[in-house]
Amino acid sequence: MALSGVGKTYNEPVLNDINLTLYTGRVLALTGENGAGKSTLSKIIGGLISPTTGSMRYLDRPYAPASRKEAEKLGVRMVMQELNLLPTLTIAENLFIDQLPNRVGWINRRRLREMARPAMEQVGLQNLDPDTPVGELGIGHQQMIEIARNLIGDSRVLILDEPTAMLSSREVELLFTQIARFKQRGVALIYISHRLDELARIADDVTVLRDGNLVCTDEIKRYTSDQLVSLMVGRDLDSTFDTSARRRGNPILKVEHFTRGSVLQDISLTLHRGEVLGISGLVGAGRTELMRAIFAADRIDSGQLSVGDPPVPVTLRSPADAIAHRIALVTEDRKGEGLLLPQSVGVNTSLGNSEKISRFAWLSAGREQQLAQEYIKRMRIRTAGTTLDVGSLSGGNQQKVLIGRWLARNCDVILFDEPTRGIDVGAKRDIYLLLNELTQSGKGLIVVSSDLRELMLICDRIAVLSAGRLVETFSRESWSQDAILAAAFSGYQHATGSTDHE
Ligand SMILES: Nc1ncnc2c1ncn2[C@@H]1O[C@H](COP(=O)(O)OP(=O)(O)OP(=O)(O)O)[C@@H](O)[C@H]1O
Ligand SMILES: [Mg+2]
Repeated sequence: MALSGVGKTYNEPVLNDINLTLYTGRVLALTGENGAGKSTLSKIIGGLISPTTGSMRYLDRPYAPASRKEAEKLGVRMVMQELNLLPTLTIAENLFIDQLPNRVGWINRRRLREMARPAMEQVGLQNLDPDTPVGELGIGHQQMIEIARNLIGDSRVLILDEPTAMLSSREVELLFTQIARFKQRGVALIYISHRLDELARIADDVTVLRDGNLVCTDEIKRYTSDQLVSLMVGRDLDSTFDTSARRRGNPILKVEHFTRGSVLQDISLTLHRGEVLGISGLVGAGRTELMRAIFAADRIDSGQLSVGDPPVPVTLRSPADAIAHRIALVTEDRKGEGLLLPQSVGVNTSLGNSEKISRFAWLSAGREQQLAQEYIKRMRIRTAGTTLDVGSLSGGNQQKVLIGRWLARNCDVILFDEPTRGIDVGAKRDIYLLLNELTQSGKGLIVVSSDLRELMLICDRIAVLSAGRLVETFSRESWSQDAILAAAFSGYQHATGSTDHE
């Protein structure tokens, strides 16, 4: 596959004059800041959009797919950054959606299940029931289904756009094993990720995009991570991060004996003002479920929540109740529950800030703009203006809009579920600094992240969940990557001898 002079212009140019060759049996890492054009380039290759300029060649012929289907017929497949599963259909149906008969009826369920099993095994999901509706799965598992779906069938070119954003170490390893197999079969791969350590492990070559321009393409072993970062952002970044100014204050939130089915089992923890408490664990360990339970988005079977300074017992019946008690949740699933994609950036930043705006009801449009401007600037959100649809922002910039929305709100406790998912290195730093600011103003933060290094960088303590239980809480002095990983696996070893979860 060879691209020459490929460019794309929406309101303004977002890709310029890209010349790139993909080689069989090699993995090309594609990297660059949020909005640099990585997904746009992938979608052009994958047939989802057509380039404004330039041309492509593939299999010794001009290549200009009119649709994703057409590209797939030629063996060009992509795992998209945003999940595209149908939540009401089962795992098996989602995996083989293209092969489902068009007419109603006549789905041979047994056959479908049989076909699904090996595909699920490839990504380590053999212990899930293929008849489970996808909507009932956690987002990490959904991402793995999305990956599995694209591993089925013959591909010659495979693009993975941020496939590991929601995965933790075990799942990443499984994916890497699959990638190695594809390489051996002579597939040409493009791998997009903001996790530079992953790129160094998996890729042969690297291409860096900056502002829609290709700034380098070469063998990856010639570059250190720091060099790649400066190529991406056009400046050196300080990779250290100082938490020494943190002052842990009074308790502000107490979770006691939270239990919900088998997903959460007798979880207790205390959060203080001015601290960042990290939650680590494997996909399916109960991290998101714990956040949702605290935020009253899900019912608990038993347990007691206390909030305030000092914490007093409360019964929260809904997220609105939680918000009234000054608890906020920044969700991991920006598409499912977070953002209104067809709405403007302005509307989206101010959602959840309604009281800040509605006091000036008759001024609201102007006020909304002002608030949005403030956060776009503060978080360096890359958008042509506050009236642009959030759906047309790059993935990472959508995430920033989501975070910006809650920062304006006056909350004492903020729960962040994968706050830097899909966010580039420079913007991650901006977010870490924001979190630090929040602690300095006396808020207590709980951060769920699959990126252990990130947690070790920004947290004061890290609680580890394993199979629905809180198995251990580490402090800065006592933690190490190995100890945390061992704790994350500990809950799975005794139960049934299987390492599966959920
Ligand atoms: N449909 C669209 N209409 C207008 N602008 C768009 C559209 N799709 C993408 N863009 C713009 O194109 C630029 C590149 O976006 P793209 O999604 O390719 O970035 P990316 O490198 O994948 O970023 P990220 O790391 O955040 O996923 C962004 O500025 C984005 O706002
Ligand atoms: Mg993208």
